[in-house]
Amino acid sequence: MNILLQWAPFMPTAASHNAPNVDNLYGFIFWLSVVFFILVIGPGAWFVYKYRLKKGEEHQPTPRITHHLGLELTWSVIPLLLCVVIAVWGFWDFMALGVAPADTEDIFVTGYKWGWRFEHRDGTKELNELHLPEGKKVKLVMTGEDVIHSFFVPDFRVKADLPPGRYTSLWFEPIGVGEHQVFCTEYCGDGHSGMLAKIIVMPKDKYAEWLRVGTPLGPGETLEDRGKKLYSDKGCLTCHSVDGSRLTGPSFKGIFGNPQPLADGASVNVDENFIRESILNPQAKVAQGYSPIMPSYQGSLKEMDLNALTAYIKSLK
Ligand code: CUA
Repeated sequence: MNILLQWAPFMPTAASHNAPNVDNLYGFIFWLSVVFFILVIGPGAWFVYKYRLKKGEEHQPTPRITHHLGLELTWSVIPLLLCVVIAVWGFWDFMALGVAPADTEDIFVTGYKWGWRFEHRDGTKELNELHLPEGKKVKLVMTGEDVIHSFFVPDFRVKADLPPGRYTSLWFEPIGVGEHQVFCTEYCGDGHSGMLAKIIVMPKDKYAEWLRVGTPLGPGETLEDRGKKLYSDKGCLTCHSVDGSRLTGPSFKGIFGNPQPLADGASVNVDENFIRESILNPQAKVAQGYSPIMPSYQGSLKEMDLNALTAYIKSLK
């Protein structure tokens, strides 16, 4: 049903399979309201003018009309039928959106105070950014970590709440390559209005490549810059300082190229291989004086991420 698409005014870009459905129904209700507004207000205004009390006229008592069966049936039955059409039409679209097809690309979404975490099928994680393949059906399996949040993508015409302690889901097929804004539409505290994310729809092959290698460096961005960003995004900063102060793990400051005593009494030279191993398999060599509590980042960091973190650690003289 695409006939009314261009008739739905004030709508944002339509960028999913669901957008035309919403726009058609919205357009139908909008123009129906315009027609009935004119039908009701037009004659009303005309009568007010035509039968106004003119200069020199006396006020006449109006004739007492009790009812008019034909007229009453007309103004009851027509709106009733129109409401039934709208209800059935809306229910039809709602059901189609409520049941995801079997062949979807599933992505986990967590809403928290105040941001969005996305997890792809292969374990790739993203924060406040979601890369999607164009023309592939996507299903979001979502939950809230603390309070209720609500995931809303105006360009896709989809929205669903994320209550803590259970999963809700949304599905859609992105149409066209481009960027789209995500909003949280459930008041969730101080940072609610800043709880934003960006959806980046890419061609299928670009998406597959992105899953493999990650986001390429931006213009002017160096590996060190990327490493610094990852250091905070991936939470390294909670255990490793960059100013030499002691936290749960050894500080990164000045460790590169120097010997590091290990828990088993041996010593290792901090080089690229040691950093790589410590990120992917942290228990292999534990620094002396620290507990073996670091989790593995296998799967959540790509090759370039490892290179970037290494470059950043190297730069902390
Ligand atoms: Cu999350 Cu509002």
